[in-house]
Amino acid sequence: MSFPSAPDHLFSPLQQRSVTLPNRIVCSPMCQYSSEDGFASDWHYVHLGTRAVGGAGTVMTEAAAVSPEGRISPQDLGIWKDEHIPMLRRIADFLKEQGSVPAIQLAHAGRKASTHRPWDAEQGEVASADGGWRAVAPSAARFSETYPLPAELDRAALDKIVADFTAATKRSAAAGFLLAELHAAHGYLLHEFLSPVSNLRSDEYGGSLENRARFPLEVVRAVRAAFPAHLPLWVRLSATDWVEGGLSVEDTVAFCKLLKAADVDLVDVSSGGNDPRQQIPVGAGYQVAFAERVKREAGIATGAVGMITEPAQADQIVRTGQADVVLLARELLREPYWPLRAAQALHKPGSWPVQYERAAQGKVERRQALATGSED
Ligand SMILES: Cc1cc2nc3c(=O)[nH]c(=O)nc-3n(C[C@H](O)[C@H](O)[C@H](O)COP(=O)(O)O)c2cc1C
Repeated sequence: MSFPSAPDHLFSPLQQRSVTLPNRIVCSPMCQYSSEDGFASDWHYVHLGTRAVGGAGTVMTEAAAVSPEGRISPQDLGIWKDEHIPMLRRIADFLKEQGSVPAIQLAHAGRKASTHRPWDAEQGEVASADGGWRAVAPSAARFSETYPLPAELDRAALDKIVADFTAATKRSAAAGFLLAELHAAHGYLLHEFLSPVSNLRSDEYGGSLENRARFPLEVVRAVRAAFPAHLPLWVRLSATDWVEGGLSVEDTVAFCKLLKAADVDLVDVSSGGNDPRQQIPVGAGYQVAFAERVKREAGIATGAVGMITEPAQADQIVRTGQADVVLLARELLREPYWPLRAAQALHKPGSWPVQYERAAQGKVERRQALATGSED
């Protein structure tokens, strides 16, 4: 009689091409709006480095713009010129030294570009006098009244964007990132093409799902060809627009089959962000079911994200095969050591950095040192 093998869990490694993710916890991309001219700074080094020290098996940068026009705000991280590489390399090297897989998210903000960062007094479009620029999109349709009116992309502009993604991908590899994720979610450029809410085109890039998927697939293929074949490529999608007539989960499953055929290694399944009318039933793990459905119906590995905060919850998502990895964002801001604490809670080995080990595990030793006054 044979029994099924033990299921994978939160602390099982995951092989993706030549890269071994040491556990299933991914630090989700989070814009820091702290760059000047796209450059990563000491802030990024500490912010990302801290999540690696905390035990996240994979640490992904925030959306890195592939061109200056592709930034959400003037303070976004970028990877549109070679001068951006050295600081990114320093960060990627440090993440590796901590045992984490360094990952980068590549993005173009489309019609949501040229907007103020969240903590600015003003919101919405940045005026050109204040460093704003003309946003571009599949169609000349605003996200909302306060957002820029974008210019519709023509063939030459589409070709330029594919070239920008390609060059940014090569720079990512040169900087030492071992994993790249294309941002095709949250109402940014590639999502705008996929969704009937924002794609009103009547050429071969609009209308049917096949046509709406055409440009995102051109970018995926170009990026896959530009990133070394032994390194994994992920794509982040919004599974649904959460509005009538918007992108549906069925569309997403069909698109994910095309992503699988284009050699994408994993789909990071988020939702929403393309229509201010969206009604989202936010709650614990509210997007996990989308990851599960994509995995089951499209037969591709998935990541679950959104309101995953408890070790047992994260572990269960992996154990029950709903997703292959979990991505945590805000919980890792509140608690960068969440992965190490989760390992303790789930009775799994998790290695605190040697510099912290005695404090984390050797409480007796510390008490003794304090008593004898021998602590350094
Ligand atoms: C400060 C902040 C910045 C974010 N920036 C990005 C980003 O650059 N790219 C992206 O795909 N998602 C971004 N997100 C979304 C998160 O990656 C994540 O999908 C979302 O916060 C839900 O996960 P959570 O409930 O664990 O926070 C951001 C979220 C936050 C809170």
